[in-house]
Amino acid sequence: MSVSIAIDGPAGAGKSTIAKLVAEKLHMIYVDTGAMYRAMGLHFHRKGISPEDEAAICAACKEADISITYEDGAQQVLLNGENVTGYLRTEEAGKMASATSGYAKVREKLVELQQKLAAEKSVVMDGRDIGTVVLPRADVKIYLTASVEARARRRFLELEEKGVPCRLEEIAADIEKRDYQDMHRENSPLKQAEDAVYLDSSEMTVKEVTDAIIDVLFRKKMAERGRTGSLDDALEELIKKECGQG
Ligand code: DC
Repeated sequence: MSVSIAIDGPAGAGKSTIAKLVAEKLHMIYVDTGAMYRAMGLHFHRKGISPEDEAAICAACKEADISITYEDGAQQVLLNGENVTGYLRTEEAGKMASATSGYAKVREKLVELQQKLAAEKSVVMDGRDIGTVVLPRADVKIYLTASVEARARRRFLELEEKGVPCRLEEIAADIEKRDYQDMHRENSPLKQAEDAVYLDSSEMTVKEVTDAIIDVLFRKKMAERGRTGSLDDALEELIKKECGQG
């Protein structure tokens, strides 16, 4: 029996940090779907294809074989057999992913891979369309968001720590632009699934958000079994019987 947790939300809401922690705590596999769109973006970038050239993107999509492995619990993305994980956070891969993730052909291919992964293992999957399209029957769906100001501030501090020069207003403008693109594209736009729990992390710590998500899962599982009792007992039982990969 496997368990699935879908976490969707806009860029910079902390989805990957939170999803990773939830997965760790519940001994589940974390699947970063954004990394798959970035790998596809990297493939198009390397081939020098313009993101506007839909025919060329669709053709190139066919020859991109994307797969996932795990090294010490960390997701690795393989593009035609090459481990490209180290290149995915670059500006080029991110921009190309954003510009091409709206194409139906790109989505079809990656959604199939994501659904296959979730059918085999208990997963915490984050993205934009996980609760709405990829895993419509997920055990728990979370829509994780935060205000533009909070997200820009977090990104600013992150970059500052790395010594990258940046301006808060520019980061905020970039976030707003990305939100618009993600929410207004024709194919699988970012939106909250009807049965998703809405979490605004603007004023919450990472631990508070993580605990809140685990709590949603426990309460659901306990209600399904019609049992009462401590959440700690339920946690242990849930990990042993359902989430844990052994
Ligand atoms: O979450 P991220 O920034 O790594 O995502 C990269 C791009 O991929 C982003 O522009 C949105 C897109 N994406 C998507 O369309 N669907 C997903 N499930 C995940 C990401």
